[in-house]
Amino acid sequence: MMAVRGRLVPCVCLGVLGLLCWVWVSFASLPDDELPLGSLDAVDRGAFQPQSALSEMEFASISSYRGPGNNDRRSNKELPILLWWSGGLFPHFPGDSERIDCAISSCLVTSNRKVQLYKRTASIIFYGTDFRAYEAPLPRLHHQTWALFHEESPMNNYLLSHGPGIRLFNYTATFRRESDYPLTLQWLPSLDYLLEPIAVSLEEKKRLRREGLAPVLYMQSHCDVPSDRDRYVQELMKYIEVDSYGKCLNNKPLPEYLEDTSTATGEDPKFMNFVARYKFHLALENGLCPDYMTEKLWRPLHQGCVPVYRGSFVVKDWMPNGHSAIIIEDFPTPKALADFLKFLDDNDDEYAKYIQFKNPSHITNAQLLETLETREWGVNDMSKPNYLNGFECYVCDQENTRLAAERVYKKAPKKNQPPQPKMADNTHMGCPLPSPGYGDVQDLPADDGWLQIWPQDYWQSLDQAEGLESLIRHNESDPSLLWRHIQNIAVSRARGKQ
Ligand SMILES: *[C@@H]1O[C@H](CO)[C@@H](O)[C@H](O)[C@H]1NC(C)=O
Ligand SMILES: *[C@@H]1O[C@H](CO)[C@@H](O)[C@H](O)[C@H]1NC(C)=O
Repeated sequence: MMAVRGRLVPCVCLGVLGLLCWVWVSFASLPDDELPLGSLDAVDRGAFQPQSALSEMEFASISSYRGPGNNDRRSNKELPILLWWSGGLFPHFPGDSERIDCAISSCLVTSNRKVQLYKRTASIIFYGTDFRAYEAPLPRLHHQTWALFHEESPMNNYLLSHGPGIRLFNYTATFRRESDYPLTLQWLPSLDYLLEPIAVSLEEKKRLRREGLAPVLYMQSHCDVPSDRDRYVQELMKYIEVDSYGKCLNNKPLPEYLEDTSTATGEDPKFMNFVARYKFHLALENGLCPDYMTEKLWRPLHQGCVPVYRGSFVVKDWMPNGHSAIIIEDFPTPKALADFLKFLDDNDDEYAKYIQFKNPSHITNAQLLETLETREWGVNDMSKPNYLNGFECYVCDQENTRLAAERVYKKAPKKNQPPQPKMADNTHMGCPLPSPGYGDVQDLPADDGWLQIWPQDYWQSLDQAEGLESLIRHNESDPSLLWRHIQNIAVSRARGKQ
């Protein structure tokens, strides 16, 4: 059992990054002329004959996801096409196109952009981190839906956190539970991962404390982030001892044997043993958003250390019970938090309550248990689709259902309703304007590094979202006109104010 876990965990943490890597390696081993790159310039698009671009030959058929409800007997030529706009994330191999057989229906999927303007192309799937308004597929065709896959930090693309940005998409898979295909517990592989026995016993932790180990660990290598976590931790460090090993607020060197695995997300056993010695782990996400929770939170729980957490405002909804994590927002000041941590450090019985959930009878959160039990995608679980393929199939089934409803409606408009339009809203992402990690924004000096980056980035992405909305409304086909549209919006706003 241990051996299996040992292998599973590294893959879990690589997540999509690993997949990207794998896809890249796979492509890299193909001869150049088979690379799906450089697909097409806008100019060339007209030169392609729609049907020849997707000849039957190109499709390897996989039936692994075909559900019992899938009676789709159509040939590849008749299936709707889903286009992965962010080709680097195309979750198939080899080739750039494939037939997928999903729970109730089938589709063709491709990363080949030459199908962008085809009638048969029903949906375009985007990877949120790579989505750029100035590279959007335009003109946006009325019959095509857009689907968004975004499981990464909100800081990667604030465009998606604004109403005009997220409403461009009809289907979403994000970390938020409200999204169409939620990825909320993506960093929690399983219930067993939570129930893993405590790595370093309380007795041993106490011994290490007597030897001079600090009660609190901080390890970050990414310092300039929207959550501005260093500003908070710096304040906290005035009141309680913190060992900080990463690049940010470093006050201790890493032992030599760890130096090449010093990234905070490493799951190397030596690294894991090293961090497991601490009673408390500062676990502050790089961006704050409802339901955005990463390994920073789940790893200390896995190891039996207590996370001191800031990230999702509704994190308590997912904790094993009401007493397993310390939430920074529950304390009025860093000093009050430090006092509480010191109290727990001195009172073993009180500290031990935070790790009671290692006994399954103390996991009382029914929503957590049910979500882990019922989610249809797995994390390194061969019996379930991964979430990329899972979302792709969700979109496929949605599109086939919509297309069928449209056909029924067209045949007999008097007897049937047209399918209702569906689009995302701010509950699918909607991360708030970044605010300082400690103190009020008005009190920051004008040359503050964080102030100069993140609030601006947030508002500039609103401009871009509005600019793209305007491009689409004007049926533009050249996305590089974005800047002109943004300017026009600014000008007409200024006029309105006069
Ligand atoms: C998809 O979303 C757009 C808005 O961004 C909307 O105009 C369109 O009607 C939606 N399509 C469907 C099929 O729901
Ligand atoms: C939008 O633009 C495309 C090509 O640029 C054109 O074929 C189409 O007729 C336009 N649609 C409308 C509603 O103007």
